[in-house]
Amino acid sequence: MLKPELQSQIETAAAILRKGGVVAMPTETVYGLAADASNPAAVKRIFEIKGRPADHPLIVHIADESQLGHWAREVPRSAKLLARQFWPGPLTLILPRSQQVPDIITGTQDTVGLRIPDHPVALALLRALGPHGALAAPSANRYGRISPTTAAHVREELGANVDMILDGGPCQVGLESTIVSCIGDTVTVLRPGGIPVAAIEEVLQQKVAVVDSSTASIRVSGSVLSHYAPVTPLELVASETLWQRVRELEEQGLSVATLEWSAPDEVHLTGATPGGITRTTMPANPVGYGQLLYATLRQLDNLKYDRLIAEAPPQTVEWLAVADRLKRASHRD
Ligand code: TXA
Ligand code: MG
Repeated sequence: MLKPELQSQIETAAAILRKGGVVAMPTETVYGLAADASNPAAVKRIFEIKGRPADHPLIVHIADESQLGHWAREVPRSAKLLARQFWPGPLTLILPRSQQVPDIITGTQDTVGLRIPDHPVALALLRALGPHGALAAPSANRYGRISPTTAAHVREELGANVDMILDGGPCQVGLESTIVSCIGDTVTVLRPGGIPVAAIEEVLQQKVAVVDSSTASIRVSGSVLSHYAPVTPLELVASETLWQRVRELEEQGLSVATLEWSAPDEVHLTGATPGGITRTTMPANPVGYGQLLYATLRQLDNLKYDRLIAEAPPQTVEWLAVADRLKRASHRD
């Protein structure tokens, strides 16, 4: 049960959405910037507020699997299996779109991204919109920037540009959903995320392809190399050469903050060393690391160091989502 105060905020938000407004909502992954998926004018405002190019399609959020048939014209067996196992949860399925999906949501594509978020506030908001209620929602950040994982981050990013921000606390997963394309007979992971690739393979009892998004032809906004980026330049450096690089930058008179994971202590702590370097120790497991990554980048960005140095994560499949976001955060066009 949600607190009565939150419940009444959800009703206010639903009323705003019905009138074509734009509301920031919590999900288990990151905060989303939501508009009624069946209202093209409302959805257009999302693109304007984010400064997002029109050819980057949006995910449609629904409350119940029974709505799939309204938005997708075909639901292959693989998609049904994955939906059953992982929804509500951090999984987005790419399916052939139905005629109900406004063009502005999908760009020029014949497919649509769908997911059921695992957050009580998001689900209550969707249900308040009625049986066909669906929300188009990208992450609630300006285009190319770090995704927000708290309501305060959304305020910082978008402030008065949105009609309302629903505060559902910090996001549990902290990284965006895993995007899985189920078009035709093939299943392909387009973006690593909250659901590990191994878990998907286990459910489907088959290996799935993982697209190297830097060479992908499908428009996935996360596939633009420079993305999820702090303003402070971030370098991704191998464990062995981390301190050598930090010393080089120090000798140039630059202030440096490090983001490490292999340090023995697993607690999340920040402290300035005598040399003026701020070290942040991240959890040495991908789930814990993912939960804290965006909030930590944002915090360090606000402290205005000259350079952020992130220790490269292990090159294993479990770390795929974290490694992907760090790679993009470190890329400069
Ligand atoms: O966890 C999440 O997925 C969050 C929360 C708010 O649900 N949403 C999110 O949205 O990350 P956004 O727009 O920041 O990223 C969605 C990604 C984009 O890279 C977009 O290009 C891709 O999904 N996408 C959406 N529809 C697609 C489609 N039909 N084909 C391929 N990619 C698609
Ligand atoms: Mg995004």
